[in-house]
Amino acid sequence: MKHFYVINGPNLNRLGKREPTVYGKETLEDLEAYVSTKAEALGCKVTCFQSNIEGEIVNWIHQAEDEQAAGILLNPAAFTHYSYAIREAISSVAVPVIEIHLSNVHAREPFRHQSVTAAVTKGQIVGFGFRGYELALRALLEEE
Ligand code: DQA
Repeated sequence: MKHFYVINGPNLNRLGKREPTVYGKETLEDLEAYVSTKAEALGCKVTCFQSNIEGEIVNWIHQAEDEQAAGILLNPAAFTHYSYAIREAISSVAVPVIEIHLSNVHAREPFRHQSVTAAVTKGQIVGFGFRGYELALRALLEEE
């Protein structure tokens, strides 16, 4: 059974409380349950991670390759906009990565329009809320 990593970055542990008009009222726990349920229905499994610490995200990206994960669903959150360490971690593994943003970053502040990570991913899904994670899973499953 294919195994995917789901990695959520900084402040996403505050989902539900954090800017609910932008990110909604559902929590990180709800998001992880949503992705796990979708994965089960699609015949694959996910392991979910969240951290506010850049280096932990870097380590999990490396670990995904070591554990032969079939892909990574990555929401780098604010790190998207400036983390060369996360970009280079993505480049350092052969595991396909899809970048996800809950909100439509292009309709928000200018600093969110740039992603330093997207160019080294398979692609980016933005603006579809939780559904973006399901779309990413489907895309990765259809890859091979
Ligand atoms: C986000 C968008 C980022 O700009 C922001 O820093 C986040 C969340 C999203 O999922 O919409 O923390 O990645």
